[in-house]
Amino acid sequence: EKYTTRSLYGSDQFQATLPRRRAYAHKGDHGKGFIIGGSARMPGAITMATEAALVAGAGLVTAGTLQEIIPIIASRIPEAMFKILKEEDGLLVWDNHLDVSAYDAIAAGVGMGRSKQGEELIKQVLKAATCPVLVDADGLYHLSNLLPILKSRDAVTIVTPHTGEMARLLELRIEETLTSPFQHAKNFAEDYGVYVVLKGKYTIITSPDGKQVVDATGNPGLAKGGSGDVLTGIMLAMILQNQTIFSAICNACYLHGTSADLAVQHKHSVYDLTATDIIAWIREVYRMIS
Ligand code: APR
Ligand code: MG
Repeated sequence: EKYTTRSLYGSDQFQATLPRRRAYAHKGDHGKGFIIGGSARMPGAITMATEAALVAGAGLVTAGTLQEIIPIIASRIPEAMFKILKEEDGLLVWDNHLDVSAYDAIAAGVGMGRSKQGEELIKQVLKAATCPVLVDADGLYHLSNLLPILKSRDAVTIVTPHTGEMARLLELRIEETLTSPFQHAKNFAEDYGVYVVLKGKYTIITSPDGKQVVDATGNPGLAKGGSGDVLTGIMLAMILQNQTIFSAICNACYLHGTSADLAVQHKHSVYDLTATDIIAWIREVYRMIS
């Protein structure tokens, strides 16, 4: 096997590829993002993703979610905008009137639960959207039944599974996935023409043409529910700003992990760190480079 393009992603690459803000920049330059997710049982995931996307620099972020979740998000991040999505019994369902064409990138799946209607929602978003779509969390659960749709999609798709989610997508046991994660991620990326972000202590980023990079930032403080949702928000923000998709993904992983690393160096411990804390430390990473 040739893995000549595989390398460790670091501060030099981050600083070299992160788009600098032009003096005459306006919000339209930094993209319109749409985050689809949330359920009555899990209002927090989309809340963290939305806040993280705005703090990480997205121009405009609309949260598409249940009506009852809107005040929760708005109270944390008043800059967010909203689209009330159709629901049944506290779970999102697809609505033919939902217009996904107004956005530059979409992140779908966080905290949405695992109902059959949710699968239809993910399916229709993948079919209707012509912009990049990032699928995470419960969206990945649904993706197992939507692999032909994934394969036929023309626009960019990004999937961000942890090892368990990757194993499920590959129909392998977790131990098998862990034995050769580079190969499995590459197979999936090439077979379905998607970017794969296989998350863990070492996160493996793979492009549809098989290029692979490792992100080694982060610490066990991230091993707590919600940190993946923060990564999704950061990644959406990076995709919306002016850089290649591959750089956007690498920079998102680096920014997420480095924020967590600064947090435990300066204020927190790996025990008490929460996903929400990570968002605050994004600001410090940016301050250090600008
Ligand atoms: N060292 C470094 N980074 C780590 C470590 C570690 N020991 N543990 C976790 N991370 C990082 C991962 O690389 C990833 O970026 O934290 C993030 C964890 O993401 P997820 O595994 O998606 O975690 P979580 O926030 O719980 O996901 C939320 O999505 O996957 C579903 O079932 C999950 O419903 C839950 C939701
Ligand atoms: Mg997750």
